[in-house]
Amino acid sequence: MATRIVTYEELKANNHKKSLYLLLHEKVYDVTKFIDEHPGGDEVILAETSKDATEAFEDVGHSDEARALLTDMFVGEFEKNSGLKVQSAAKYAPSQSAAVSNAVQQGSNMMYFVPLGLLGAYFAWRYYSSGSL
Ligand code: HEM
Repeated sequence: MATRIVTYEELKANNHKKSLYLLLHEKVYDVTKFIDEHPGGDEVILAETSKDATEAFEDVGHSDEARALLTDMFVGEFEKNSGLKVQSAAKYAPSQSAAVSNAVQQGSNMMYFVPLGLLGAYFAWRYYSSGSL
């Protein structure tokens, strides 16, 4: 199925509590049903209608759970060349580099603790074996 393209006109038309679209990461979401449940309240969302809400959404540092909610609200891709300045989705794509640097970080922790543990074990062994001589 082809992805629906949502125009800037449509985005602007759905800017009220009865029908509310949000533009995030170059995609448009229908948040009408969600707005009353939003832990951050409805006003902050209403303030982000008819424009790119990406930066506001990202500035809050929404959790992965919050991001997962978006899947069900997806309407379509926002039209290209709408004239509206839109944050590129790539900028906010779940960054691989974060995952990689986490892995590297964990890896380098291991690099310290494994040899330290071995050294500790060696001295413990020496201590106990010399004591028994
Ligand atoms: C469809 C889009 C959105 C979804 C699904 C969503 C979802 C959520 C969820 C689940 C939380 C609870 C904390 C967390 O899990 O991160 C939250 C908190 C919050 N959200 Fe959103 N949000 C959306 C859009 C926005 C927008 C556009 C703003 C505008 C600034 C916003 C502002 C906030 C704030 C300020 C909080 C913190 C509330 C607090 O901890 O007191 N959210 N949101």
